[in-house]
Amino acid sequence: MHIVLTGGTGFIGSQLQQFLVSSGHTVTVYIRENSAKNFNILKSCSSVEGSLTDLEKISTLTSQCDLVIYCAGSVRGARLKDFFQANVAGLKTFGTALATSGGRLLLISSLAAERPHLSDYANTKYLGETVLESIEDLRWCVLRPPAVYGASDTELRPLFKLMNKGIALTVGPKDQRLSLLHVEDLARAVCMVAISPSAFNGRKMTLHDGKEGGYLWCEIVRATRPIGIIVWIRLPQVVLIGFAKINMLLASIFGYLPMLSPGKVSELSEKAWVCDNASISELCGWRPRVDLQQGIRKTLEKS
Ligand SMILES: NC(=O)c1ccc[n+]([C@@H]2O[C@H](COP(=O)([O-])OP(=O)(O)OC[C@H]3O[C@@H](n4cnc5c(N)ncnc54)[C@H](OP(=O)(O)O)[C@@H]3O)[C@@H](O)[C@H]2O)c1
Repeated sequence: MHIVLTGGTGFIGSQLQQFLVSSGHTVTVYIRENSAKNFNILKSCSSVEGSLTDLEKISTLTSQCDLVIYCAGSVRGARLKDFFQANVAGLKTFGTALATSGGRLLLISSLAAERPHLSDYANTKYLGETVLESIEDLRWCVLRPPAVYGASDTELRPLFKLMNKGIALTVGPKDQRLSLLHVEDLARAVCMVAISPSAFNGRKMTLHDGKEGGYLWCEIVRATRPIGIIVWIRLPQVVLIGFAKINMLLASIFGYLPMLSPGKVSELSEKAWVCDNASISELCGWRPRVDLQQGIRKTLEKS
């Protein structure tokens, strides 16, 4: 197939490029102008620069493709507008173009879309899905991964590195339960869903690494460092909120997009982020291959 991929320069998108190309697809990565990460594009992929809301350019591009994998997403920000372009407005443009051309759209959404009240991020992930629902004649489906980790991720990998050295730094309730997914399993799932014609009927699918009911933090710590931890620092919610407020202030002074915000604290404080594999397994037979211990080993192998 000829596939257009957005968000191809990011953590998940880079992995998707590799898996899609090795599955024999022709991949065009649609990147924003002046993306600081355009070096992440594989030589075997072509690229087109443009805005996620340029309907004319996107209509031309999508008229020649079978499928768009929409993996662009804003995961950092201080206000709704920081998340809106990539998580909502871009979907409207791509959806509108594909409804005319007859192509399909696979959205990498998030488990967070289930709880839009928690944060601007969660809200825009939900709104992005809602936009797709509202476009007539569009053939689309959604994958809602939980927390995804892997060698080039900048969120969980630093925590695993610290745990590996004997220091566990955790947030959220003590008995919090989390589903997790290694990025290679996500990329494999995307490749399988992409070639399942019956997927594109507005289906929303969650997926995890095979651990039903998710992990307790102590299980994550054990998988990272079976010989035991030296220090365990649990950050209470009130401290985290304090850090988030300071971070918001610094972000407004120095002009960066904050990851830790009060909204992110609400997400991190949830009692559980747990999902199931029923729908995706039934659709295409996908099964996870990378368990937590293997996944963490792969993640830490990179120097
Ligand atoms: N990582 C996770 O644990 C996780 C879990 C569940 C769902 N997801 C979803 O998966 C998707 C990818 O996440 P990720 O972890 O790979 O994030 P990431 O590394 O930050 O990558 C985000 C990608 O989106 C692009 N992008 C962001 N804003 C854009 C804009 N305004 N215009 C054009 N492109 C834009 C980025 O381009 P540049 O390189 O130019 O910045 C990058 O390619 C997101 O939608 C996220 O919500 C992630």
